[in-house]
Amino acid sequence: MTQPENLHPTHSAEVQSGDRFQFGENWGRFLSVINDERIAEAQATLRQMLAVDSLEGKSFLDIGSGSGLFSLAARRLGAKVFSFDYDPASVACTREMKRRYRTDDADWTIAAGSVLDSVYMKACGQFDVVYSWGVLHHTGDMLTAFNHAANAVKPDGALFIAIYNDQGFVSRYWTAVKKVFNRWPVLRPLVIAFHMPYLLMLRFAIRLLQGRLKIERGMSMWYDMLDWLGGYPFEVAKPEFVVEYFLPRGLTLRALRTCGGRMGCNEYVFR
Ligand SMILES: C[S@@+](CC[C@H](N)C(=O)[O-])C[C@H]1O[C@@H](n2cnc3c(N)ncnc32)[C@H](O)[C@@H]1O
Repeated sequence: MTQPENLHPTHSAEVQSGDRFQFGENWGRFLSVINDERIAEAQATLRQMLAVDSLEGKSFLDIGSGSGLFSLAARRLGAKVFSFDYDPASVACTREMKRRYRTDDADWTIAAGSVLDSVYMKACGQFDVVYSWGVLHHTGDMLTAFNHAANAVKPDGALFIAIYNDQGFVSRYWTAVKKVFNRWPVLRPLVIAFHMPYLLMLRFAIRLLQGRLKIERGMSMWYDMLDWLGGYPFEVAKPEFVVEYFLPRGLTLRALRTCGGRMGCNEYVFR
């Protein structure tokens, strides 16, 4: 894999000060579990949520592309794709995904950037589809991220986002856990050991009973647990808040897939 660039000094400073989790490191591991089945599933999700058969002739912005799996899926559906991420290791993962599956593809551009950077976002322009799954709540300023993502949607375009569900007290508890995980690395083994019975064993047992052992978007239960415990900055929102936020910006809800009030992301498509 190509080495991550360090285009964002603010990124490494945030990691150093314990204000940011290094998402990209985990995405590097995810590359080893990518296969044709996962790519096909990603394509099916995009088709289903966006209610389209193809993205031929459309432009697609992937904000916080992470592994690059959904950028690849959009490209395979025919879209011209622009992917960016704030974490240099995530950018490297997306580039590796392109190297493996779409080498020399002129219609897939990958860059380092932040959705919070208004100058950068203006320069990106507008797209038929703006996709940002599980990202805007990890920026440290979710509302600015919402605003910039909405501005990147063309007048007749779609915005597909996934945002952590607000579970009140429970969400505040997890925010505190994530802060400890990032600020005091020495306490990490303790944080992991304390939450493992719930996050790994109990959830494994529930999935086993429900016949849902297959990991849908993640890598493995172990690395998904680390991602969950470390995933900081972290904000949450109730579906009604998200829907009402975008309404005055001319974006109305077309599809919603909730996590059923539990821990996880609610998915929204606005047009
Ligand atoms: C949980 S991952 C989701 C990755 C991918 N969207 C997916 O669905 O698999 C969150 C990603 O958001 C990125 N991110 C965090 N803050 C960002 C920002 N300000 N601008 C762009 N990307 C950001 C992280 O680096 C990470 O790769």
